[in-house]
Amino acid sequence: MLKAVDLSKIYDDVTALDSLNLTVSAEDVYCLLGANGAGKTTTINLFLNFVQPSGGNALIKGLDVVAHPLETKKYVAYIPEQVNLYRNLSGMENLEYFSALAGNKDYTKEDFFAFFDEVGLRRVDAERRVADYSKGMRQKVGIAVALAKKAEVLLLDEPTSGLDPKASNEFSRLLAKLASHGCAILMATHDLFRAKESGTKVGIMNAGRLMMEVATEDLGHAELERLYLETIEG
Ligand SMILES: Nc1ncnc2c1ncn2[C@@H]1O[C@H](COP(=O)(O)OP(=O)(O)O)[C@@H](O)[C@H]1O
Ligand SMILES: [Mg+2]
Repeated sequence: MLKAVDLSKIYDDVTALDSLNLTVSAEDVYCLLGANGAGKTTTINLFLNFVQPSGGNALIKGLDVVAHPLETKKYVAYIPEQVNLYRNLSGMENLEYFSALAGNKDYTKEDFFAFFDEVGLRRVDAERRVADYSKGMRQKVGIAVALAKKAEVLLLDEPTSGLDPKASNEFSRLLAKLASHGCAILMATHDLFRAKESGTKVGIMNAGRLMMEVATEDLGHAELERLYLETIEG
């Protein structure tokens, strides 16, 4: 579903990403780990076609994102650390707006409430102004937008930073549910605990290189932490 082939990005004299090869299949929750500056955001931005690769290819459903910018964007939903919503509109109005932008014009109010229900946002909250939302609630609206768009690929950049443990747990469970419905998920995170809990694979990056990839079922929490520290400390 998502594939990087020798994907590289060089800024002046910084190699932000060095020949990345990675595959994320449907039903995978692939967690990218690594210290600040390791190249996680660059990887996500290359898949989003926000930045141009210096070499190699980023493919979504077999299509190169540079050659097929519009088509590949149709499949993708993006959740950054702060989901951008219109503060003065309600969650419902935001969802209506963003799903219309994505080209879906046939949904009824009940359909939208069903999306909110799926992400665990109550009707009364969906009708409140986003300005009064917690960060966890804004992230849920982001997922509701992804559901309404029927996104097959979800790219997330540190979506749980700053969430309390309960909100973070709910968010992770939501991602696992989306994956079980066939979504391919690539997420940059610093949360080793959540990566182990809700990820199917973790990739550890250091200085633009993917140093190792492991299936989360093959290791415990303590082992993942040890691998992580060994990898980023060289
Ligand atoms: N627009 C840019 N111009 C120059 N250097 C950049 C730019 N974006 C990222 N970098 C550099 O690329 C490297 C990887 O950054 P990034 O992908 O943001 O890492 P991460 O998300 O893992 O913290 C860092 O050294 C960063 O300083
Ligand atoms: Mg980053």
